[in-house]
Amino acid sequence: MPHEGKIRRQSSHDAPICKQAARYAAKGPGVSLSVLVLGIETSCDETAASVVSRDANGHGEILSNVILSQFDDHAAFGGVVPEIAARAHVEALDHVVQAAMDEAGVGFADLDAIAATAGPGLIGGVIVGLTTAKALALASGKPLVAVNHLEGHALTARLTDGIAFPYLLLLVSGGHTQILLVRGVGQYERWGTTIDDALGEAFDKTAKLLGLPYPGGPAVERAAARGNPDRFALPRPMFGRPGADFSFSGLKTALRIEAEAIAPLSESDVDDLCAAFQRTVTLVVRDRIGHALDRFRSEFPDLAEPTLVVAGGVAANKALRAGLDAELSARGFRLVAPPLVLCTDNGAMIAWAGAERLALGLLDDLAAPARPRWPLDQLAAPMLGSGHKGAKA
Ligand code: KG4
Ligand code: ZN
Repeated sequence: MPHEGKIRRQSSHDAPICKQAARYAAKGPGVSLSVLVLGIETSCDETAASVVSRDANGHGEILSNVILSQFDDHAAFGGVVPEIAARAHVEALDHVVQAAMDEAGVGFADLDAIAATAGPGLIGGVIVGLTTAKALALASGKPLVAVNHLEGHALTARLTDGIAFPYLLLLVSGGHTQILLVRGVGQYERWGTTIDDALGEAFDKTAKLLGLPYPGGPAVERAAARGNPDRFALPRPMFGRPGADFSFSGLKTALRIEAEAIAPLSESDVDDLCAAFQRTVTLVVRDRIGHALDRFRSEFPDLAEPTLVVAGGVAANKALRAGLDAELSARGFRLVAPPLVLCTDNGAMIAWAGAERLALGLLDDLAAPARPRWPLDQLAAPMLGSGHKGAKA
């Protein structure tokens, strides 16, 4: 639980408290200030930086949001190569930060803090971003906020839509598939997660298996739009089970067996397989989220407008969105989906999470570690065998 208005350090090292940190602490519990924060994101294959402001009432504004995708660097390999990613972050980050500062029209002296993703993610990239943020914080005498990447996703809807706590978050990307209860800044409960592959990973693997280009999600969606979803009957992992956990690796195997049985595949075979896959995952996600919505209702029966926020690249999928819409309106929930550029990895979500933490006096010192694994819900048991991207699961 965060302590409002107090400086909380996430490492035991006794670094001197900078002036700004003392200023926030001196304001006392519950008092927020207007803040301006630079955010840096390097945990996967986007090099990103952004300047965001948050006023004393909690309203946010994005002054700049610069994202350099390493898409071309990895396309030939059909996935993100960690060493290439880390090197590309080193080459690009100074320029991306400068561009974000220039676009915002601010100097380092104007900032109240520098925030960076400190995990979870590909450790080489995380180290590049966090070390750069530490160097900038040291050189400019500003406080550092070491942000959990998942918290960045979790809080984005407060920046874009100003929504109040508590709400439910469905995070579906290449690295994460989670349903989280968001009670407050730093207060999360994991209600569901994948026990194997992330949903985006399942889209990507399906695409690869069927000879479609990387990243697989958009390619599978395009093929699915042309296909017949009834031709293949695929299993629906976890469907109808209690709780809100996911599993996608068995579905991938079932699809492979169907594909091998009719190989060589024609274009319409590929379209039909994609249509079956997409419909199956949509049904599964609807079922899983339905359980979480029911639980949310029973835990917060008096909320006037219960809300589900979706984030992550897979949230771009129109069939999935339509399925979610139907499930939510049937249960009287509101769906909030930040614009896609803020749903996928970006610097603004890190700057915003930094601003929310700073407003509560939650700062870090220069010994803050880079963490390949960093669950938001520290009490949730790790899932066995949670995929090669399990670090983010
Ligand atoms: O959030 P994101 O940009 O990066 C991280 O993984 O952190 O998500 C990328 C994932 C990829 O797996 C990609 O295939 C998937 O999102 N994706 C989609 C769609 N667009 C992107 N999956 C299904 N349908 C889409 N239209
Ligand atoms: Zn992400």
